[in-house]
Amino acid sequence: MEYILRKAEPRDVSDILRLVKELAKYEEMEHQVTLTEKELLEDGFGDTPFYHCIITEIHGQNRSDDPKVVGFAMYYFTYDPWVGKQLYLEDFYVMQEYRGLGIGSHILRHLSDLAVKTRCTGMMFVVAENNEPSLQFYKRRGAEDLSQEEGWRLFRFDKDSLEKMATKPEE
Ligand code: ACO
Repeated sequence: MEYILRKAEPRDVSDILRLVKELAKYEEMEHQVTLTEKELLEDGFGDTPFYHCIITEIHGQNRSDDPKVVGFAMYYFTYDPWVGKQLYLEDFYVMQEYRGLGIGSHILRHLSDLAVKTRCTGMMFVVAENNEPSLQFYKRRGAEDLSQEEGWRLFRFDKDSLEKMATKPEE
């Protein structure tokens, strides 16, 4: 089977959203995906991209077959005031029928090369506690579990909390 890794382009937003939803479904949180193709397009391909994506595309046997997007990684760069630039891996997914063929490892290798070339000091990501295959996938490659080893906890202010804290217009 032949596949290529390439940077996502604006025409990929429907495939990106499809894979985002598949991953959310795999994590049993599909109902939390409210993002639209329009937002993905504006946020990833404007003057200031808020995310980047690497796409895995399968090419069929026949020239007439359309290429099929079967996997992706969404990432961006963050900054750690102790050690500097970090690559943040936000979403990472390969469709079930294409898993176990080395595509995921290839994507991680590609992102590791990118992180090293851009002088990042690490790659950060969050894994759901019940996603045991993925926890093991990362641990086998040397990832450290910071919740366990350093006791960090993940927090969020949701939109309601933000609105409560945000400056209110004068009454
Ligand atoms: N399905 C999954 N893994 C398999 C399968 C299979 N059918 N068959 C074998 N494996 C083993 C492989 O032998 C390999 O073992 P190794 O770690 O010893 O090398 C490993 O599982 C898979 O390696 P690859 O083929 O390189 O990776 P793959 O293309 O399967 O992609 C990924 C890995 C992205 C984690 C994929 O399994 C996946 O999409 N899982 C479901 C979604 C998920 O959990 N995503 C990560 C969420 S965390 C985040 O996004 C930051």
